[in-house]
Formats: sequence, structure tokens, C-alpha cells
Amino acid sequence: MAAGKGVYICKNIDESFIAVEEIFNGKFGVAKNILFEEFLQGEEMSFFVISDGSTVKNFGTAQDHKRVGEGDIGKNTGGMGAYSPSRLISDILEKKIFDKIIHPTLKGLSDLGTKYKGFLYVGLMIVNNEPYLIEYNVRMGDPECQTILPTLDTDLVEIFIACVKENLHEVQIKWSNQKSICVVLCSKGYPENYQKNIEIKNFEKINLNKNNFLFHAGTKNHDSKIYAIGGRVLNFISLSDEFAKCRRNIHDNLNKLNWDKGFYRKDIGFKVIDK
Ligand code: GLY
Repeated sequence: MAAGKGVYICKNIDESFIAVEEIFNGKFGVAKNILFEEFLQGEEMSFFVISDGSTVKNFGTAQDHKRVGEGDIGKNTGGMGAYSPSRLISDILEKKIFDKIIHPTLKGLSDLGTKYKGFLYVGLMIVNNEPYLIEYNVRMGDPECQTILPTLDTDLVEIFIACVKENLHEVQIKWSNQKSICVVLCSKGYPENYQKNIEIKNFEKINLNKNNFLFHAGTKNHDSKIYAIGGRVLNFISLSDEFAKCRRNIHDNLNKLNWDKGFYRKDIGFKVIDK
């Protein structure tokens, strides 16, 4: 465990040697083992399901933007924004993901005598329309959750209760057909050093309605004033029939907030907007 930073993507054998040296020389603490995986050249997709132990249902797709810089460059972050649905998803690909990855996993757990109840976040690399599993998380994603949930048309609590009671097969999970984008407003300096306790003003100018949302992340409310206390501070979400409109609505709101101690990636969704 290396706080998400223990992964090296090595483009050649020399880079692999450097990685091995660093790992065994204690860069992440004492290391006894190393896991080598095939280098995959493709596009990432976050695929979500919810399971009650016997029934498993699709819970949306998204594409996260992990790097801090526009054009997917620079350091890795917790996520600078996402769009949903992923441009890669299709019925054929979804069937492959269930048949080759999710059903065998749940069967494996069941064979071990365990029922898996809850969200499963399937982190995939799609290579020539084939899904490769990179990782599982037993939760929704951040910022994928903020991006996907506003497109849910079924009561989330109804889904949770059905999941706990193992009645998921009785619930029809409905989604709006809208596209969704989330842009994360960060403190300047993130993912490295940044200042804390900086006031953010102009919240009253932001346009929020049934298609435009603002979720707080790294903020605190003190004496009715909002202060940034984290690296990733606010999540702006917009739904629309077009990804380009979603992003425009978000940028309009971000410009109204005009917080000069923050920054955000202006190119979130570039693969579906600026192709
Ligand atoms: N968006 C990546 C994660 O939640 O792990």
C-alpha cells in the first residue's frame, strides 16, 4: 500500500530497473514483493455495478481525468473531473465485461462462501474493444460518483434497501439519457502543497437547478462563510443533451465564482468534445 503512488508505468526495460531499485530501496517503506503486469495501451473506463449477493446490475460508466494538467499531463491526482457515460461503452463491450470479469469474480466469491453486497467499481483498460481489469474498488468513484448519480432517475434509497434485503431483481434502475460532466475546482498547488483556510466568495451568483449541481468536498463552513481546506475543493456538475453544453454551463458557473486561489482543468471531456 503506497497511498495510490506505488504504480510505475514503465515504457522500457531501463525504466523498469529504476522502478525496482526505488521500490526495494524503501521509497514506499519496506517492500517484500512486487507485482509485474502487462503494459496495456488503451483507454481507461470506470464501470460500476451494484450487487445484492445474487443479482448484479449495471450502475453506469464514466471516464475520469486523473492527471493535473490539460491534455492529461503532469502529476496524478485524486481526479480532476469526469464525464459520463464513457464514450467506449456499447452493448457488446458491456456483455464482455460481465461475462469475462464481473460474473467470474462474483462466482469466485460465492464459491468461497461470501456474498458481495454493494457497489463494485471495475477499473478497466479497453484495448481494441477488449476489457482488461486493472483494479477493483469496493465503492463508487470520486469524481465518477458525482458525475453519474445526477443521471439516476430511481430513488437511490430504494436501491440501497433492495440491495440490503437481497431484492435487487425487483428494482428497475432507471437512468436519464442525459450526458453529464463534473469539473473539480482545486486549490492552487494541488496535488502538491497548497494553502488552507482560504475564503471562497460569490456562491450566491452560481446558477444551480435540476441540471446543474455543486457538491462540496474540501470546504468548511465557519460563521456562514465557506473556506477551502482541501486540495480538491468543489465539484461542479452539469447535465445536458450534449457534453459541450455541460462543460459550458460549468465554466459559466466557475467564472461567476471567480476564486483566484483555485484552478481547474478546462478540458474535461476533451475526448468527447474537442475530438
Ligand atoms: N476516480 C478514481 C477513484 O475514485 O479511485
